Amino acid sequence: MAKTFDVLVIGAGPGGYVAAIRCGQLGLATACVEEWKTPQGSGALGGTCLNVGCIPSKALLESSENYERVMHKLAAHGIKVNGASVDLAAMLARKDAIVAKMTKGIEYLFRKNKVTWLKGHGRLAAGGDAWQIEVSGGEDNGKVSARHVIIATGSKARHLPGVPVDNQIVADNVGALAFSQVPKRLGVIGAGVIGLELGSVWRRLGAQVTILEVLDEFLPAADEAVAKEAWKMFTREQGLAITLGAKIGKVAANKKGVAVDYVTKDGEARLECDRLVVSVGRVPNIDGLGAGAVGLKVDSRGFIEVDAHCRTSLQNVYAIGDVVRGPMLAHKASEEGVMVAEIIAGQAGHVNLDTIPWVIYTAPEIAWVGKTEQELRAQGAQYRAGQFPFSANGRALGQGEPAGFVKMLADARTDRILGVHVIASHASELIAEAVVAMEFAASSEDIARIVHAHPSLAEVVHEAALAVDKRALHI
Ligand code: FAD
Ligand code: NAI
Repeated sequence: MAKTFDVLVIGAGPGGYVAAIRCGQLGLATACVEEWKTPQGSGALGGTCLNVGCIPSKALLESSENYERVMHKLAAHGIKVNGASVDLAAMLARKDAIVAKMTKGIEYLFRKNKVTWLKGHGRLAAGGDAWQIEVSGGEDNGKVSARHVIIATGSKARHLPGVPVDNQIVADNVGALAFSQVPKRLGVIGAGVIGLELGSVWRRLGAQVTILEVLDEFLPAADEAVAKEAWKMFTREQGLAITLGAKIGKVAANKKGVAVDYVTKDGEARLECDRLVVSVGRVPNIDGLGAGAVGLKVDSRGFIEVDAHCRTSLQNVYAIGDVVRGPMLAHKASEEGVMVAEIIAGQAGHVNLDTIPWVIYTAPEIAWVGKTEQELRAQGAQYRAGQFPFSANGRALGQGEPAGFVKMLADARTDRILGVHVIASHASELIAEAVVAMEFAASSEDIARIVHAHPSLAEVVHEAALAVDKRALHI
């Protein structure tokens, strides 16, 4: 007799593991199938985010930024450091230890919430009153059945045709988080989030980094003023070499390095580098899921089709996270997981895709929520903009981090906040206030009238709100 559950979750990334925990909290008999294996061969929960994404990248960003501070920023504080050097093996070991601690933490949370981890690959085998799921290739092989299924199978790196990734010389996110030596010359294809974050890590550690981007525009998803400021900081001040409008041609790799032929408006060129990172986006992962056999609807780009509540075309089957429409972000996946668990338990659930914050963890960080100014202009919206620089903020000066600004966009008629854009050292934390404000349909005047602690970076959010009404106080 197959084991039977109320809910079976396929995939234990931030979408699936959070969905499973919430199902457990709600008293549903829950199992989660996860096939991930560490390089040492043991199973691991946490998906892309914990194993080869958000968490290890942020650990390396922090370590490399500390090195950058020691080398270039502490002198301004009157601190002299001689003979600082990088112990890359120790830095990577620290990152790996953080990953292990976090993934083990999810094992504990599964036990605490009575979620059964089925180790292996899950495939939808058959539907009916209950769904049959076949688990194979792991430790818990066999068939299980569940009344509800939540698909949270995530995404995988998109690779370029004719450019095989070995994660040694040519790497996607997996190899780029684990180079055993700092490459002298690092090439990166794609100036998106991964290219900028991991390009920054290796540049700070000493690599000469060149990024080739196919688009003519830099960071088109960010607000235009933020993208312009970021371009100035990353290229002129930090020395990331970014070539826009680069059409990649032949990529030839051997054991020693890589030659990338490309064409720009100035003609043909070649980039010679020791290591190459390919970061040209991610694609949904439905490998071996059995979607076709059970009639699960998938769109032309491979995303599982869902409605606003993550219901798929199949009864009692939901899909969440990177494998469905919307931004490919961990917090978006998790919130969809909570929503679906609550709907299955008979409660209401909703995720507002219009207020999902974005953060790029470069230095300075970039964060935003809501509409960009160019989007509002294209819509013909009537809006007012307020902007305030960190260079006029005492806390930012004290920290030695005067770069960047906050820009707030509000409806010209109602004053409702339509978007907030931050480029600053702690933008990832500052954006939370803007998300709350937008969720509560706040006006810029609401923020302008709220007391912000002094001295704090949050005062810049306050001043940007005042600036919407042309009454910033400190400029
Ligand atoms: P995943 O995390 O991809 O998890 C899917 C899981 O399903 C995997 O563990 C996989 O093994 C498992 N699986 C798939 N198919 C099956 C099957 N058939 N049977 C069993 N198991 C299966 N997002 C942020 O919000 N902030 C960040 O700072 C950030 N940094 C990132 C840095 C990098 C380098 C990368 C690559 C991504 C980053 N992301 C970040 C994106 C984030 O990792 C994803 O949005 C998030 O992991 C998506 O969660 P998910 O649960 O949908 O899928
Ligand atoms: P991305 O979509 O952010 O950027 C890919 C870049 O590659 C784009 O600028 C694109 O124009 C460019 N590109 C595409 N094809 C190309 C080609 N043939 N030649 C040259 N350039 C090309 O994707 P990325 O950086 O791979 O990251 C994937 C996703 O992972 C992100 O979109 C995001 O959802 C998630 N992520 C989130 C992070 C965060 O929240 N801080 C950090 C890292 C990843």
